[in-house]
Amino acid sequence: MARNLKLVAEKITREFEVKGGRITALYNVNLSAWEGEVLGVLGPNGAGKTTLIRILSTLLLPTSGSAKVMGFDVVKEPEKVREVINMASGAERSGYDFISARKNLWFFSQLYGIPGDEANKRIEELAEELSFKEYLDSKFYSLSTGYRQRVTIARAFINRPSVVFLDEPTIGLDVMTAMSIREFLKRKARDERITILLATHNMPEVEAICNRVAIIDKGRIIAEGTPEALKNTLTLCAYAIEIKPIPVNLGFLESVEGIKGYTMKADSQRGTATLQVVLEDEELLETVLFFLSKNGIRVLNTWRKEPTLEEVFVSYVGRGFGERESES
Ligand SMILES: Nc1ncnc2c1ncn2[C@@H]1O[C@H](COP(=O)(O)OP(=O)(O)OP(=O)(O)O)[C@@H](O)[C@H]1O
Ligand SMILES: [Mg+2]
Repeated sequence: MARNLKLVAEKITREFEVKGGRITALYNVNLSAWEGEVLGVLGPNGAGKTTLIRILSTLLLPTSGSAKVMGFDVVKEPEKVREVINMASGAERSGYDFISARKNLWFFSQLYGIPGDEANKRIEELAEELSFKEYLDSKFYSLSTGYRQRVTIARAFINRPSVVFLDEPTIGLDVMTAMSIREFLKRKARDERITILLATHNMPEVEAICNRVAIIDKGRIIAEGTPEALKNTLTLCAYAIEIKPIPVNLGFLESVEGIKGYTMKADSQRGTATLQVVLEDEELLETVLFFLSKNGIRVLNTWRKEPTLEEVFVSYVGRGFGERESES
């Protein structure tokens, strides 16, 4: 393993027995992360993100394949791995309600055997960095969702881990809190060379803080690179088309050759929808507009879009995140 490679996963497959058969939550997943890198694992609901994090953090065994964190094998040396990692999830909001934020962090510091003076110092530092110093002595239950999540994020760094796994760390948070957590993570990776693996279905989050991103869909990595590189590989063009009324079915678009994919966001209050299409050639826009009008859909506005990770996803998968999530 190269010296600065902190995490390597090779051909990870994970199946689950469910009623009526097996499902493959992950299939042949290869992944690596460098020192000081924020690696995004971006995928819609059910893509396999949490399963991947659970395997890499030794909470779940893979069905096959292997992974090493800081050179330690997650299957054969789980206790070694646990010493050098930490993790947090946005869904858990964990903490002991009836003790203060400080005592919560103290409790976790003691699970890692951090000497008292050192633990106190780290708690103060993390509270400063995540701007919750004035709440350190408030009972955990009395904190707002956002402050509780700041404490949860602090907990994930209390043992000075080399690799941190974060599962949707800003889900359900207000914009300001999400921004300040993102800035904190970016600094930790850059200044302290901590490797962060961040699973999310939030594309702006990936664009804001990830050096590299692996896009995952139905258990498979479908694309990987820097957000910039992924967007630059799109020789395709993307258009947004504002339409009315909201179409019940856009299946007819699939028969148009050269459409790489589409996704639609409806605005039910206005009775309009924005259709995004990724096309092989800009001349196809005419054809799309023709098919829309043929199906009784009025076009209010059309504009070309700078590609974002959403278009990258649409061009690989054929559908948008939203549609994928409602499928599962
Ligand atoms: N313990 C389990 N038993 C059976 N199926 C499971 C189990 N854990 C996960 N799965 C299935 O594996 C697939 C991947 O799930 P996973 O939770 O890893 O996705 P995810 O990307 O984290 O999704 P989300 O964005 O909703 O959190 C899903 O189809 C899920 O239903
Ligand atoms: Mg998940």
